Amino acid sequence: MNIILLGPPGAGKGTQASRLEAARGMVQLSTGDMLRAAVKAGTPVGLQAKAVMEAGALVSDEIVSGIIGERLDMADTANGVIFDGYPRTAAQADELDKLLAARGRRLDHVIELLVDEDALVERIVGRYTCAKCGEGYHDRFKQPAVAGVCDVCGSTEFKRRPDDNAETVRTRMAEYRAKTAPILPIYEARGLVARVDGMADIDQVTSEIAAVLDGTTA
Ligand code: AP5
Ligand code: MG
Repeated sequence: MNIILLGPPGAGKGTQASRLEAARGMVQLSTGDMLRAAVKAGTPVGLQAKAVMEAGALVSDEIVSGIIGERLDMADTANGVIFDGYPRTAAQADELDKLLAARGRRLDHVIELLVDEDALVERIVGRYTCAKCGEGYHDRFKQPAVAGVCDVCGSTEFKRRPDDNAETVRTRMAEYRAKTAPILPIYEARGLVARVDGMADIDQVTSEIAAVLDGTTA
């Protein structure tokens, strides 16, 4: 099964994608994570993407579709993929169709996380991750069981994303409204879109997504 998680910054795409990966053996393909890894490694893609990401703008369609295409050629994606943060423009949606068709795969669901943008700013500005294993936390909504110690790996080092500040978040949301939300009708016309309340608590969102994937929605 191949699915897209669609929603503005902070909607919970990454949180839910990593749960689906753990629960269903699907592979999370986050273009944001891949680009951040490229920036960290100082690759040519990373060098091009760094300033664009820090400004909250979108990296070029060619770069992101290129990295998705390369990733889809890896064997682990054959059991199913969760696209997290891709596609983000009409050109990327078009390219994704081609990438999947060329590999004899198809899209099964597009899940739109419905959220309140004002609440998202708080979610994003409070977000941090374990510097060692990448587990996600939040100053208010998801604190480690022991303060300052990662629940998963025990590390005491954490980090925050450079684009997670109130000003850049507003730019990222404007980009979502202008360029990403308009791709929804493409998938609606194909009957692929399901909507989930992204403001519910994290476990509830996970259950609602599971119901869509299992075909048990009311
Ligand atoms: P990307 O990394 O994709 O960032 P984003 O879309 O802005 O989304 P986020 O990762 O901020 O949010 P999320 O929906 O994953 O939320 P999360 O689960 O973390 O992209 C970053 C940049 O890379 C872009 O701006 C662009 O420059 C570039 N880029 C990436 N892909 C691109 C593409 N295809 N084309 C062009 N450029 C691209 O949750 C947020 C917080 O809220 C967490 O702390 C979490 O614990 C908490 N939380 C989650 N769910 C809930 C809940 N239900 N209730 C309470 N708290 C919750
Ligand atoms: Mg994310």
